[in-house]
Amino acid sequence: MSTRRRPPPASRRPNDRADASGDPDSRGRDLVWYRYTDAATMMDDLAAALSRTLEEAVRERHRASLVLPGGTTPLPLYRRLASRPLDWPRITVLLGDERWVPTDDPASNTGAWKRAVAGTPADGAPTPSFHLPEVARPCEALEEIARRIADAPRPFDVVVLGMGTDGHVASLFPGPGLARHIDQPLVAAPPAPVPPGGGVPRISLGLPLLSDARKLILLIRGDEKRRVLTRALAEEPLEDGLPVARLVARAAARGVPIEIWWASAHEASSGAGR
Ligand code: 6PG
Repeated sequence: MSTRRRPPPASRRPNDRADASGDPDSRGRDLVWYRYTDAATMMDDLAAALSRTLEEAVRERHRASLVLPGGTTPLPLYRRLASRPLDWPRITVLLGDERWVPTDDPASNTGAWKRAVAGTPADGAPTPSFHLPEVARPCEALEEIARRIADAPRPFDVVVLGMGTDGHVASLFPGPGLARHIDQPLVAAPPAPVPPGGGVPRISLGLPLLSDARKLILLIRGDEKRRVLTRALAEEPLEDGLPVARLVARAAARGVPIEIWWASAHEASSGAGR
C-alpha cells in the first residue's frame, strides 16, 4: 500500500504546528499524524481542510457527506465549520454516534452540532437525527435509523472521530459485550460500561460504516490519548482489540487514507477552547 506524503495543513502559524510527519507509517498504512502545540490552530487548519474536501466533493459529485464525532473535543471545530460558505444543503452531516436522548437534551450530539450551527450557513445541512422519541430503546430503532442514513452519499467523504482514553471510538466501547457487535453497520450500545456521558443507552455507527469513507480522521487531544492511540496503532489488531485499532485496521485494509490530528491538552495563553 503506497504511503504517499501529503502536504501539511496550511497553518497560519507554522510554529503552532509541531509536526506534520507525513512519514511512511511503520506498518505501510496510508496514515499520517498532524501534531500541534496549539489546539485552536489545529481546529483552524482542520476546518479549512474539511471545507476543501467537502467543496471538492460537491463540485465532483453534487453532494457530500460528513460524519462528525460527539463529545467535547470537536466543539471548536463545529463552530469553525458553521461559518464556512459551503453548499451546505448538499452536504449531509451525521454524528458518528448518539446518546438515546432528545435532540434538545444537553447530552445529545446532534443537538450540540445544531446548537453550534444555529443561524449559520451550516444550519442548512441535512442532519438526520438518530433519536426516535417514540422508541424506548435504541435496539428497537435500528431499521428506522438505517433508513434515515441511507440517503447520505457513500462512501462518506470524511469520517471524523474522537477517541476515549480506553480506546473507544463513537460509542464502540472495548469489552466482550461489544466485541461481536461492532462489526454491525449500526450498534445499539447498552449503558454498561457506563460511558463518560452517563448511563443513557447509545447508538453508534459500527465499523462497516465508520470505515466506509474516502478519508478517516481521528481528532484527539492530550498526551494520554496520544499514548493510547500510538500503542493501539503499533499492535496487531485482535478480534477483542481496542475499537480504535479495529477501526484503523479495517479502514487501512480498504485503502482509506487515515489522518490523526493531535494537539496538546494545554491551552495556549491566548484562551481556552477558542
Ligand atoms: C461521544 C463521542 C465519543 C467521544 C469520545 C471522546 O458521544 O461522546 O462520540 O466517542 O468522541 O468519548 O470524547 P471527548 O472529545 O469529550 O474527550
